[in-house]
Amino acid sequence: STILTNDYRSNYHFSPRENWMNDPNGMVFFKGEYHLFYQYHPFGTTWGPMHWGHAVTKDLITWEELPVAIAPDEHGTIFSGSAVVDWNNTSGFFDGEPGLVAIFTHHLEVPNEQPVQRQSLAYSQDKGRTWNKYEGNPVLGHESIVDFRDPKVFWHEYSKHWIMIIACGQTVCLYRSPNLKEWTLCSEFGEGIGSHDGVWECPDLFPLAVDNDTQTEKWVMIVSIGADPAFKEGSRTQYFIGDFDGSTFVADENSRFVRWLDHGRDNYAGVSWSDIPQEDGRRLFMGWMSNWMYANHTPTESYRGAMTIARELSLETIDGKVTLIQRPARELEQARIPLISLQNVSVKEANTHLKSLQLVSYEIVAKWDSDQSVHFTLRNSSDQQTVVGLDPNQHEVYVDRRRSGIVNFHEHFLGIHTANIHAKRGEQQLRIYVDSSSVEVFANDGEIVLTDLIYPDADANRISIAADNESLILSSLHIYELSP
Ligand code: FRU
Repeated sequence: STILTNDYRSNYHFSPRENWMNDPNGMVFFKGEYHLFYQYHPFGTTWGPMHWGHAVTKDLITWEELPVAIAPDEHGTIFSGSAVVDWNNTSGFFDGEPGLVAIFTHHLEVPNEQPVQRQSLAYSQDKGRTWNKYEGNPVLGHESIVDFRDPKVFWHEYSKHWIMIIACGQTVCLYRSPNLKEWTLCSEFGEGIGSHDGVWECPDLFPLAVDNDTQTEKWVMIVSIGADPAFKEGSRTQYFIGDFDGSTFVADENSRFVRWLDHGRDNYAGVSWSDIPQEDGRRLFMGWMSNWMYANHTPTESYRGAMTIARELSLETIDGKVTLIQRPARELEQARIPLISLQNVSVKEANTHLKSLQLVSYEIVAKWDSDQSVHFTLRNSSDQQTVVGLDPNQHEVYVDRRRSGIVNFHEHFLGIHTANIHAKRGEQQLRIYVDSSSVEVFANDGEIVLTDLIYPDADANRISIAADNESLILSSLHIYELSP
């Protein structure tokens, strides 16, 4: 098969060699490897009968794509789900050595009727290379809800049970099991709270320390909401913070106020990695860098779909409110080639340095100690540009992709995406990851994140910086080329 070289192929984000990809699935760390499974259509570049594709990485930057892991069978195609290490062989699938269990949705089309979505298991005794389906599949169905899918499973040490959080129409349900095979309903969450602008999908639930204090733990629930055509932002991901006792999740705020995980348009269906070793202690997250509104129409040819960079999640109190913070996984620093490193430099002088650069895949870290607004013009040529700015006075961070190359393949692609930045800290910070077809903006140390696809020409590769006043002093400016 032909792989086009100039096909907006990311240099440090995962994308499949060919064909269609959507949600990350079954992300689990085992025996030194981070596994990524994903919704995959091996026979086309648009969504089709779903399989689990598979890739592994040791460093969260360079990926090895492996053969398709799980393929459709008589129970249906393979929708999203999770994977865990069954350390104590609770499932009975393993003999001596612990192995991996995947818990996924079997999606069955039934002629002239609603499809049926039920949960099933597969297990692997060879580090995820080959999978056996459980002969007792499916293990969990729902008597009335059609959209019953995307199980995310984790071991809850306190109650000594497996917990499954699963999307159930416009809510999530929590189940528990001693052995991954028999599941009992514990509770349901979501009515009258958060966004209901689409069907609920791809939930996750995990604890995090607040402000690095292991004594004050809170639970974070992530819920993606599917694109309702009436909703021009398309598919987005929200989160809730609260408490979980092994059977019920109670949110701290009981309102319709929505906390978005990302304020761009292209970070969907993201969930966290399972079984990260305790001595590492991180909660790592990755999302699908697209949006159902236009995902099938993005202008790539031999493949379609890429993942965000891996991110570390934490909880920090900002303006009295516990907030989910995202920062690039530190492994990404290994890919840095330092090009510019300036301290206490005016915006005017910084620009003379930026003029010498022609870059596609890079990271910018800029800091300044005032409330003046600063913006970068990226992936710039005579007729293309992407603008990323932070305006502390207006409490605003934004990405403007109205001139980011190919923008007319869907009416809602073109646009400016703005987020409210709550805190006005002494120091402003923009950290921006740019690649062949994406920008990921981490403002004020991960307080606000915007992830957006862009499709500029490969030679739209200039960078400049601007401020209200060119004499504004940047306390620091670093530019790194990113080359894994
Ligand atoms: C989310 C989603 C999931 C489903 C999968 C199908 O993007 O709709 O709910 O399992 O994609 O590919």
